[in-house]
Amino acid sequence: MSLAVIGGTGALDLFAVRERRALTTEFGVPSAELALIQLGSQQAWFLARHGLPHRLPPHRINYRANIQALKDLGVDRIIAINAVGGIDPSLKPGALVIPDQLIDYTWGRCHTFSDDADSVLDHVEFGDPFTASLRQELLQAAGRASVPVLADGCYAVTQGPRLETSAEVRRLAADGNTLVGMTAMPEAALARERNMGYASLCVVANPAAGVSPEPISIEEIHVVLESAMGQVKQLLSCF
Ligand code: HPA
Repeated sequence: MSLAVIGGTGALDLFAVRERRALTTEFGVPSAELALIQLGSQQAWFLARHGLPHRLPPHRINYRANIQALKDLGVDRIIAINAVGGIDPSLKPGALVIPDQLIDYTWGRCHTFSDDADSVLDHVEFGDPFTASLRQELLQAAGRASVPVLADGCYAVTQGPRLETSAEVRRLAADGNTLVGMTAMPEAALARERNMGYASLCVVANPAAGVSPEPISIEEIHVVLESAMGQVKQLLSCF
């Protein structure tokens, strides 16, 4: 069983790198070199979703190359780290959430491996987009690490790279979403198409637009994410 972590910016600095591997896939080049890291007692492949250095906006990420590269390395379980805004007002900056559902609002991304007449047409089952057993393992690791996490949430995946309007966030809330981010799709669906387990560890970076009376500060988002990465590392080290 081989594990991978797909991380946002800053996450690679958390771990000692033992080996780097540059890969190309039939779907193109992944966001960055793959790095073999030590996660507690086990090794995992780490992929920097936005590239190294951070340069790829969410809609320009080659999600298919990223998932295929991990598949080619023999990975069968992926932990995704995703920065999100909190739609539910109880979610404060720095909170960690393991979502159990998502709604996909993205468009124009290469979102499937079943994309031409030659590929196998694959209508994957996606009722539960995050793998239940992997979510449980993350929850157990959080318990061992004494890191507080919320055990469920519905992740609205928006196109970005701009943040949402307050009216869009009200609509997302009415749809049942509690979190909003830009990167879980098509990543989660592509992992399902390749028969890999996938769970997301969301880091709340800010209250979503209009949830707090204060305007969202991008500088503050970076500060929150940087300090929350300590908790992410603590949790993953107990995985
Ligand atoms: N919206 C979308 N994506 C995000 C946000 C947000 O408010 N914060 C961090 N990623």
